[in-house]
Amino acid sequence: MTRPTLADRNAQVVAPSTSRMRSIANELKEKGESIINFAAGELDFDTLDSLKKAAIEAIQGKCNTYTPALGEKKIREQLAAYISAELGVDYAWNEVGMTAGAKQALYNTAMVLINPGDEVIIPIPYWVTFPTQIELAGGKPVLVDTKPDNYKLTADLVSAAITPSTKAILINTPNNPTGAVYDETELRKIGELAIRHDLWIIYDECYSRLIRNGGRHHNIVSLIPQLKERTVIINSFSKSMALTGWRLGYSSGPVDVIKAMENLQGHTTSNPNVVAQVAVSKALDQSTDFITTANAILDRRLQVIQKALIHIEHLSAAQADGAFYVFANIQWFIGRQYNGKVVQTTDALVELILAEAKVAVVSGAGFGDSSGIRISYAVSDADVETGMQRLTEFFGKFN
Ligand SMILES: Cc1ncc(COP(=O)(O)O)c(C=O)c1O
Repeated sequence: MTRPTLADRNAQVVAPSTSRMRSIANELKEKGESIINFAAGELDFDTLDSLKKAAIEAIQGKCNTYTPALGEKKIREQLAAYISAELGVDYAWNEVGMTAGAKQALYNTAMVLINPGDEVIIPIPYWVTFPTQIELAGGKPVLVDTKPDNYKLTADLVSAAITPSTKAILINTPNNPTGAVYDETELRKIGELAIRHDLWIIYDECYSRLIRNGGRHHNIVSLIPQLKERTVIINSFSKSMALTGWRLGYSSGPVDVIKAMENLQGHTTSNPNVVAQVAVSKALDQSTDFITTANAILDRRLQVIQKALIHIEHLSAAQADGAFYVFANIQWFIGRQYNGKVVQTTDALVELILAEAKVAVVSGAGFGDSSGIRISYAVSDADVETGMQRLTEFFGKFN
């Protein structure tokens, strides 16, 4: 018996390595194993009560119907005012749109900007989804190793990667998986390059509000307002408001880009969840205290991680000034022995860490950089302590 084949594009798509590790950790936990989940990609604490209340009220108020594809106009107006105040650059309601998480905003962006064969410069290590989405749009990810430059794109690196086919530069700050935060000087230089070479900038700042130790996040359009016409900014309520499951992200950009996204989204998922739209709009002004508290907790946890990492011989980490990730360089351990057995790859190391230390971390392979593992500290203080003790013990057994 024969059967029609699946589409060729499936060859470009594998399940995100981050989700895979998270579900393995959760399955083991459900089986009663004492697993520390350093593979987490979301805050471990609950969202605001006022948000939940606003969602319940929205449901009780019969807020159940379709909305325009990129969200209710009134909420887009409110969001535009919020973004304008944050960036110090004016955005009108038709220059912003809501999506089912930042992931959809990024997918829309790839689909409306990229033609088959267009190149998009993406820094390595990258969040797992970036290259796949560009490929699905027919584009070609041009991957640029940022490890030698403190895990950040520089204008020199971008310059060396530009070809006549380059269409866009993707910047992700604060970065997943490294936690790196781009500084003003380099962002300005990259922005100037984009203008000189007539390129789009795709600016993923999903972790913009999660910044360590009083540091500062910079939006590239705030730095160079002239970039507004060639920049699509991607953000989300997922990470900073502990709302990953509600699926509410947004993008800001030129009117024609946002309109094209609206047309596309009208044919794919239509509007993002109406209850989430309404609830977030009611609680938007109360988010500041929540985020301040989250950052204080995350600062404390990062300190515990950094203190522990100092004592793990042969392991170093990128400077992590944002989000809730640390990217630890484990290159020394590959090809060396643990309990008499040689560990051949980073993926094998991660499996071994899970099996032996009962800690789930994510292999850098899925982020395009096998020299590292991602440690997430979006877990309880107690788990951060225990997890780091376990990792210290584990890495101490290599020879
Ligand atoms: C850099 C980055 N961009 C986008 C997303 C997607 O977030 P959302 O839940 O809003 O779709 C994530 C989630 O992990 C991320 O790390």
